[in-house]
Amino acid sequence: MCADTSRRIVLAITGASGALYAVRTLAALLAAGQTVDVIASEYGRRLLVEEIGPDARLDRLQDLLETKYGQDVRRGRWTAYSNRDLGARIASGSRGADAMVVVPCSMKTLAAIAHGLSRSLVERAADVMLKERRPLIVVPRETPLSLPQLRNMVACAEAGAIVVPAMPGFYQQPRTIDDLADFMAGRILSLLHIPHSLYPVWDPDGAPEP
Ligand SMILES: Cc1cc2nc3c(=O)[nH]c(=O)nc-3n(C[C@H](O)[C@H](O)[C@H](O)COP(=O)(O)O)c2cc1C
Repeated sequence: MCADTSRRIVLAITGASGALYAVRTLAALLAAGQTVDVIASEYGRRLLVEEIGPDARLDRLQDLLETKYGQDVRRGRWTAYSNRDLGARIASGSRGADAMVVVPCSMKTLAAIAHGLSRSLVERAADVMLKERRPLIVVPRETPLSLPQLRNMVACAEAGAIVVPAMPGFYQQPRTIDDLADFMAGRILSLLHIPHSLYPVWDPDGAPEP
């Protein structure tokens, strides 16, 4: 696996459950030396606080990242953008990012990406990824799923996005919620071809007998 150490990656946080996946992914991208443009929707910000606590507010997040994940997060840098700022550089195809992750991705944002609505910076930056044929990873979270939601996942996949449902595996024998978040963040980094050690490589020889 080759290391990409100088890419600009958009991390969009929307209002689905699983804010910890976003925080873990951001920490891992930073520890890998990436430049990250963070956009949180209104409900994305709300769920950061409701699920993790007030220290996950974007204006306090750097301290939380350093305390929880260590000083390695200082290898990268991140900037927060307003979801209303459609004039931000990542809204532009010529000046946009190299890749984008929407984690967690609400069904509302999934629908907007599937139909190219581009009303907010999250939606526009995702649309840019699709039209410029750059990697777009969406991590939807909802259960159960309606037929329109399933169709929107298909539409995103047909448009070129990689759909990575928030479905952590249990074959790594996770013991904590952080282990589950590590798994999802690790899958995301792997898809971006960024080396990581967020979970051990699965060894079928070491697995218990079925
Ligand atoms: C506590 C809470 C949990 C939610 N969990 C989900 C969820 O898991 N999946 C989802 O699609 N929407 C969920 N929602 C609803 C979305 O936040 C809502 O549809 C919102 O308008 C999404 O907007 P956004 O995509 O701009 O963030 C949740 C809302 C709240 C308040």
